[in-house]
Amino acid sequence: MDAKKFYQSQREGARSLRFISTQAWPNWPMNEQEKAVTQAQGFEARLGEMVFIYSAQGQLEHVWVGAGGEDYDQAMATAATKIPAGIYHCDQTFSEKALLLWSLAQYRFDAYRKSNLPVRCLALDQAQYTRITLAAEALFWVRDLINTPAQDMGPQGLVHASRRLAKEFGAQLEITEGDALEQHYPAIHAVGRAAAQAPCLIELHWGHAQHPRLALVGKGVCFDSGGLDLKNASGMRLMKKDMGGAAQVLGLARWIMAQNLPIRLHVLIPAVENAVSGNAYRPGDVLRMRNQLTVEIENTDAEGRLVMADALVKACESKPQLLMDFSTLTGAARIAVGSEISAMFSNDDDLAQALQRHADAVLDPIWRLPLYAPYLSMLDSSIADMMNASGSSYGGAITAALFLEKFVTEDIPWVHFDMMAWNMSNKPGRPEGGEAMAIRAVEQYLQAWCQRVCGK
Ligand code: BES
Ligand code: ZN
Ligand code: ZN
Repeated sequence: MDAKKFYQSQREGARSLRFISTQAWPNWPMNEQEKAVTQAQGFEARLGEMVFIYSAQGQLEHVWVGAGGEDYDQAMATAATKIPAGIYHCDQTFSEKALLLWSLAQYRFDAYRKSNLPVRCLALDQAQYTRITLAAEALFWVRDLINTPAQDMGPQGLVHASRRLAKEFGAQLEITEGDALEQHYPAIHAVGRAAAQAPCLIELHWGHAQHPRLALVGKGVCFDSGGLDLKNASGMRLMKKDMGGAAQVLGLARWIMAQNLPIRLHVLIPAVENAVSGNAYRPGDVLRMRNQLTVEIENTDAEGRLVMADALVKACESKPQLLMDFSTLTGAARIAVGSEISAMFSNDDDLAQALQRHADAVLDPIWRLPLYAPYLSMLDSSIADMMNASGSSYGGAITAALFLEKFVTEDIPWVHFDMMAWNMSNKPGRPEGGEAMAIRAVEQYLQAWCQRVCGK
């Protein structure tokens, strides 16, 4: 869906939207006629309440929107879906998140049905328009990628999306595919070989050599049936979203490149489908990973960490100054922090703290969980260096993160996000379906990181 249609940089003809809190409302100066209209409608500026003020000719002139206890984000998201189609402007100052929620609330995935939804367009000043539309385009793209069914977003779908992105921003794309993976990316090959579409490792390179290196790795499991350890029907139902990490990484890469941030970017996406077939990898198989560690397969449904491991090893070979991965890695993460918060793990305390600060500032919730080393023993294998999962159901997000840590070079600052990438139900600004998570926090962090690392 095109995010740009919800914003414009000209203000002519726009109606005014006026947000007001319940506290400020009783003493708000306004003319007698308007006061009478609002009172007659029982308006008290509670969250989501609205009053439409018309001219004598019957034209909608402006709208009062209740913001309750100064909840301008929610008020913005609610107004954006409830007011008539048209162009609006606000004279008040809003957070970037509130301005983004204007379009995020109106998002609908309509690639597979006819749509004639009303469009409410917000007039912004030029600087805001540029910044907000770049962000909204990245976030909309993340949602679209996740919402696209696996039939149209298999490994080849991810290649196609990456190719379009690379072309748009003059980035280099490198694809390692099918049998070519067997020798150097054994886990990506093993997990993906049973599917009709060949597995691949997608790599995108962009930026100048003198800029600090950032590696972004995203889990691209286009559908996770569980493999031979098949998921049940309800567990499988949403698994088109198991490429949610790849979608975050593509959206973030677009956002970085569109702003021309002084970063040398390396994006890696292991793109596979975890399918069932005669040549599927099995429980009890042993994989020799790219870094030569051997892994015994305890459960073929713990496939994400396997494909991510090969990609993380590759990412570390270029010695990035910063390595971030995004994965829909475990069901356990949402048991720990719920579906709206991304679990964060890091081998670098300063990095984790800075990220948390930025996440709090832009209201993109993340929460750090520990890389508690003693739990590594839960992955002990009797015949290989480790297992890909533990028999125990405790601490599942932590053991998965500890597994990944085994494939990250120790002195490279690394962050791992284990996320849902999906809104379970409709809430203002967050329609049910694929969702961008943690990347607004990371984008804010990267702005500061660029300034610090290369003083630009
Ligand atoms: N893709 C799933 C994790 C997942 C499930 C994320 C539901 C979000 C919602 C992952 O590949 C998986 O199946 N993990 C297993 C690991 C287990 C077999 C050790 C899990 O979490 O149950
Ligand atoms: Zn799985
Ligand atoms: Zn998975």
